[in-house]
Amino acid sequence: MSDSSESALFPIRPNHVAIIMDGNGRWGTKKGIGRLEGHRRGVSRVKTVVEGCIQLKIPYLTLFAFSSENWNRPRQEVEWLMRLLSNSLDKEVQELHENEVQLNFIGEIRALSPTIQEKIDKAVQTTSNNTALVLTIAVNYGGRWDLTQCCRRIARFVQNEKLSVDEISPDLISQQLITGSLPEPDLFIRTGGEKRLSNFLLWQLAYTELYFCDIQWPDFDQEEFLTALQTYAKRIRRFGGIVTDS
Ligand code: IPE
Ligand code: IPE
Ligand code: MG
Repeated sequence: MSDSSESALFPIRPNHVAIIMDGNGRWGTKKGIGRLEGHRRGVSRVKTVVEGCIQLKIPYLTLFAFSSENWNRPRQEVEWLMRLLSNSLDKEVQELHENEVQLNFIGEIRALSPTIQEKIDKAVQTTSNNTALVLTIAVNYGGRWDLTQCCRRIARFVQNEKLSVDEISPDLISQQLITGSLPEPDLFIRTGGEKRLSNFLLWQLAYTELYFCDIQWPDFDQEEFLTALQTYAKRIRRFGGIVTDS
C-alpha cells in the first residue's frame, strides 16, 4: 500500500502509539519451542509496527521491552532478554537509521551492563537527527520509578532555590518525567490478553485511549495493527468535556 492510500484510509491517526508487547513467553510455550524462542520471535515484530508507523506517518512509537519488575524472572530468561537487546542493537540500528528512525531509550539505563549502555549511547547518537519516527524503547522502565526520579529532580530544584513550591504544576511534572520530550500517547496497545498497565507510563497514559487484544505479541502483524488503529479512529475523546454534534 502506498503512503498516500494508507493516509487516506486512516484520516484520524494517533500521533503517539505506546505498546506493551506482551505474550511472547506463552506463545513460545504453546508452540512447543519455549519461552526464550518466543522472545526472539517477538523482537522481529518490532519491525512490523515500526514500518506501519512510518507508512502511516505516525511520528512517535514507544515500546515496553523490559520492565523494572522483569528482573524478578529466572536468571536465564533475564540474561536471554538482555542478549536479545544487545544483538538487536548490533543488527538493527543501521537499518533503522537508513529509514530515518530516531532512537530513544527510557528507563533506568545505568543499571544495565556497560556494554549495553555503550551500544544504547551509540545508537541514540547515530540516529539523533532522524525525523521519520521517534522510536522510544522502554528498558528497565517502571512508571513508579519515573515518577520517583521526577519528584527527586523537582525537590532538588526547590532545595537549590531554582523553583518555588507553588511553581510545581502538572506541566512541570510532565517535563521532568523521562518522557519529557515526548507528547502524551494517544493510543495504548497491550497484546497478550492481560488488562493492566503493569507499571508502564502511569502519568502519561491519563487520557490515552486503551486497546487490549488477546493476540500474543509474536502474532501481532500489520493487519492486527491496522485493526487497533481503526478502533482508535472510532473512539470519541472528550478529555472530561462534552462533544457536540456541530
Ligand atoms: C513480554 O512477553 C516480553 C517481556 C516482558 C520481556 P512475556 O515474557 O511477558 O510473555 P508472557 O506474558 O509470559 O506470555
Ligand atoms: C509488561 O509485561 C512488561 C513488558 C511487556 C516489557 P509483563 O508480562 O511483565 O507484565 P505482568 O507481569 O503480566 O503484569
Ligand atoms: Mg507477560
